[in-house]
Amino acid sequence: MSVTLKPKILFVGYGHLAKSLASNSFLKNFKIDSINSKSRIYSLNRKKIIKKLNHPYKYVFLLVRPNLFNLRGTEFNKYIDSKTIIVSCMAGVTINRIQQIINSKNIIRIMPNVMAKQNASHTYVYSKNKKLINSTFHKILKSFGTYHISSKEDEINIATALYGSGPAFIAFLVNAFLAASKIVSPNSRVNERDVIHLFKNVISINDSSLKLEKFVQSIASKKGTTQAGVHFLKSQNLKKIMYTTLYRAYKRAKEISIEK
Ligand SMILES: NC(=O)c1ccc[n+]([C@@H]2O[C@H](COP(=O)([O-])OP(=O)(O)OC[C@H]3O[C@@H](n4cnc5c(N)ncnc54)[C@H](OP(=O)(O)O)[C@@H]3O)[C@@H](O)[C@H]2O)c1
Repeated sequence: MSVTLKPKILFVGYGHLAKSLASNSFLKNFKIDSINSKSRIYSLNRKKIIKKLNHPYKYVFLLVRPNLFNLRGTEFNKYIDSKTIIVSCMAGVTINRIQQIINSKNIIRIMPNVMAKQNASHTYVYSKNKKLINSTFHKILKSFGTYHISSKEDEINIATALYGSGPAFIAFLVNAFLAASKIVSPNSRVNERDVIHLFKNVISINDSSLKLEKFVQSIASKKGTTQAGVHFLKSQNLKKIMYTTLYRAYKRAKEISIEK
């Protein structure tokens, strides 16, 4: 009986994002080790600390913060050989910059988000060498959720704002609505789960901007309660607030790309 060996992957950095990438299907199909700042090596499949690295690794994921990479990235050359494919998840750090620090041209940038573990990330992918995005790599991407192969590197900065940071902006908005709903009804307890279901239900039956727009109109009758609230939202220019939020995250990703 032939035994197919699982491709080996090393996570350099085992923080918030790295822990969120370990979906069941990723672990089922790949052998993944991680290393952190204290050089602690951990096998994600065996769920235990191991004594030494399992060289050679087919993929090395860069999961450290950009400033750390700029300062200490050259040390990571010890984890790679001529065949290793570098997968950078770092916001803002360009392929040219990675190439200056790591001695390799086999580089793919991806921008997943922390929902990958639940197979719910929408991941952007960019590489100068499209051949690196082969069937094995598609399998990795599928284990995170849906994905999009970008044709321009700057799309990764847009994805960083929208799909990388975006889940936090959405969580912040929902939480603001929840907090306000509690303040508006101080004497009757608002059930958080009911309000969260309200969000889910509105989105599940309105899956396009047009449907959402029509939905607002269908509730906002003239001089009614909804119209009073919608008028206020419009007067506060919520669209501009959302645009500035996304633009600032995008601009920050571009700034990181020129930081040394
Ligand atoms: N968080 C997100 O939602 C998200 C989304 C998209 C992209 N990203 C990108 O993912 C990267 C990591 O973000 P994060 O939020 O996961 O950061 P984090 O939680 O701070 O994790 C950073 C990890 O790097 C490790 N580290 C530091 N120095 C190291 C070294 N010399 N060798 C090996 N590991 C070292 C740290 O080790 P210790 O555990 O020992 O401190 C830690 O595990 C960033 O570049 C970020 O732009 C993050």
